[in-house]
Amino acid sequence: MAHAYSFPKDFWWGSAVSATQIEGAANEGGKGKNIWDHWYELEPNRFFEEVGPSATSDFYHRYQDDIALMKAIGHNSFRFSISWSRLIPGGEGEVNKEAVAFYNNVIDELIANGIEPFVNLFHFDMPFELQEKGGWENREVVELYAQYAATCYDLFGDRVKKWFTFNEPIVPVEGGYLYDFHYPNIVDARRAFQVAYHTVLAHALAVAAFRTRSIEDGKIGIILNLTPSYPRSDHLGDQKAAAIADLFFNRSFLDAVVLGSFPKELVALLDEYGQLPTYEKEDVALINAQRIDLLGVNYYQPRRVKAKEHLPNPASPFMPEWFFDHYDMPGRKMNHYRGWEIYEKGIYDIMVNLKDNYGNIESFVSENGMGVQNEERFMENGQIQDKYRIEFIKGHLKWLHQAIQEGCNVRGYHLWTFMDNWSWTNAYKNRYGFISVDVQTQKRTPKKSAEWIKAVSQQNGF
Ligand code: BG6
Repeated sequence: MAHAYSFPKDFWWGSAVSATQIEGAANEGGKGKNIWDHWYELEPNRFFEEVGPSATSDFYHRYQDDIALMKAIGHNSFRFSISWSRLIPGGEGEVNKEAVAFYNNVIDELIANGIEPFVNLFHFDMPFELQEKGGWENREVVELYAQYAATCYDLFGDRVKKWFTFNEPIVPVEGGYLYDFHYPNIVDARRAFQVAYHTVLAHALAVAAFRTRSIEDGKIGIILNLTPSYPRSDHLGDQKAAAIADLFFNRSFLDAVVLGSFPKELVALLDEYGQLPTYEKEDVALINAQRIDLLGVNYYQPRRVKAKEHLPNPASPFMPEWFFDHYDMPGRKMNHYRGWEIYEKGIYDIMVNLKDNYGNIESFVSENGMGVQNEERFMENGQIQDKYRIEFIKGHLKWLHQAIQEGCNVRGYHLWTFMDNWSWTNAYKNRYGFISVDVQTQKRTPKKSAEWIKAVSQQNGF
């Protein structure tokens, strides 16, 4: 049957998760502590309903049933992350055999069910001991990360062909060093830029380690949260503000990993304000040589920006917001259940930008999704009737289809997320899954959207 929206052959249909958010078993199987385990001990009140990362959705024990469910709803691919502190407790030294067995089992089970594993190496979960040494501010941690990445390729590269160095590497920079929503809760732009720079360096070293191994058909990439910056108007001030926001929040990482260098305008701006991170000369050639094969794009909502109304006080601490103000566009469509804007065309704009300015790099939507608070209110006959989520996905898929029609090199669509999971300080507040999870009993129930995506995946369109 011909569909109005048919996707290319072998399109990747699936979803994404991360280790800390689904595994649970935080103190089991020889896992070391990561910053989330530590921060929760320190300040449980900063987590929604004081729910911490120790149990989450128990994938560690239930992965077989969960993978069977993935198969049942039509997944042909699935992204998860390896927990650094589970694989190498303390972040350096000996590899934890129980963790190797666990990840081997997950990979084998996925493949046995016809689901391609996409493996991400870092999703916000720095081993605590390494954070104590300065985390990404410390170049030694950068080296240790590259060793950890190499260990993963050697352990799992015979079966895993799609590798990602980081998920949303800018989020720990923003959360941990600028806006105080991740540990270590530092607010200092100069240190934030150092962390960002070292993350790019860590990425480049991990790509270099990948290139020295011959992983048959292997591809290495990164997952970036790209938030297109739209100016309030055509006025120069608004346009400039949007361009600067784009430099800080998108191009900082995107240019470095796809084009091999940081945007000149960003370097000049940081230099002018005395905010450049320290670096070593040979880093430039390393970053330039290690460009990715595959880009994951996480897209939730755009950034709306206008020119600054009041110039910043030069005595105040430097922040990216010195150069633009946020702007709530009147009449914008909202996901009121989460408080985020919905702008489906954003996904198209991102992909066209990748085609026009980034060599049409092979890409896929690695996260897109709709968070909903108190989602049980939509329960009827024992199932969550998440028609809003179906509409949300459809709206984005239509624009993605349009981008593909125009020649964008887009290979797949993964939803955030497979099943409801624990989300950092928001814990279980916003539900995103195709599958609902009863946090008390851990019972899984497919939502309406799970049935819908099954049909879409099987028919490769809708
Ligand atoms: C994504 C992250 O950006 O947002 C996920 O990669 C996170 O890890 C998701 O869970 C949803 O966030 P929130 O705050 O709405 O629960």
